[in-house]
Amino acid sequence: GWTAESFIEDAVKEIRERVGEKKVLCALSGGVDSSVTAALIHRAVGDQLTCVFVDHGLLRKGEAESVMRTFRDHFRMNVVQVDARERFLSKLAGVTDPEQKRKIIGNEFIRVFEEEAEKLGEHHFLGQGTLYTDIIESGTATAQTIKSHHNVGGLPEEMKMELIEPLKTLFKDEVRRVGEELGLPREIIWRQPFPGPGLGIRVIGEVTEEKLAIVRESDAILREEIARAGLDREIWQYFTVLPDFRSVGVMGDARTYAYTVGIRAVTSVDGMTADWARIPYDVLERIANRIVGEVEGVNRVVYDITSKPPATIEWE
Ligand code: XMP
Repeated sequence: GWTAESFIEDAVKEIRERVGEKKVLCALSGGVDSSVTAALIHRAVGDQLTCVFVDHGLLRKGEAESVMRTFRDHFRMNVVQVDARERFLSKLAGVTDPEQKRKIIGNEFIRVFEEEAEKLGEHHFLGQGTLYTDIIESGTATAQTIKSHHNVGGLPEEMKMELIEPLKTLFKDEVRRVGEELGLPREIIWRQPFPGPGLGIRVIGEVTEEKLAIVRESDAILREEIARAGLDREIWQYFTVLPDFRSVGVMGDARTYAYTVGIRAVTSVDGMTADWARIPYDVLERIANRIVGEVEGVNRVVYDITSKPPATIEWE
């Protein structure tokens, strides 16, 4: 039967043979696929691999730090961390349409990645976390296709690098087993799905630093309380969103006019359909109290109780 151990052994051998003395580049997002890909290629060719981690400012709280801690400090990999926060924010200024936001974020990601690749000098190979399901879903198995929906960004075609896709025969559960065997931390292996455009599509309407901060902080509280309640494994995806309106509230004896935070939590198998998660009322109460108490600019919390379909999981 299939074992992670023998898969790794074969993959390492194959990667070594193919790469020889040449150099490999990887885009690291912190998601399970790109993380396992990078760790596997690193196991095979060590310092011949360089990873680029683009911080677009649309990440969750603590995410950039956690990725750097794992790969740079723990695995001792070459990781270039690119602070592109300002750049993405200015590109997104004034943009309210969800699909346009996605396009801008995807394109900008490619541009930043290309620029970094150029600075790093020539790399012969590009490591990519394509899974078996990605190949089936996109219909064609050509190396150049990539589903923008499921990945951080498209592949820069002009870069003329050969692809290394060591996970392309695997399903998600096998990727997780390989990741465990490679010693990746649980927080990466069991990370809930997180969209490439990140918090950019969880701030409804125009993305601003102030609004991003509200989503980032409220999301961190939600994640903390879900973990504390022991619900993080049974809820498939959970996050907060920031609708583009304010409403009236009262704090102390002052009237407030502030934002509403929405909680979205679903159970699902593959994200194609989803049911809203029945989070116990006392847990919801704790989350709401903390968000209103700790996140500046928020005076109301609502819970999304629609399933998919007819709603989607994300609000944009
Ligand atoms: P929806 O909102 O379509 O989401 O029900 C289904 C799953 O896909 C994720 N999602 C995305 N992932 N880029 C991504 O990489 C995107 O633009 C994107 N939009 C939605 C969503 O988080 C959920 O897991």
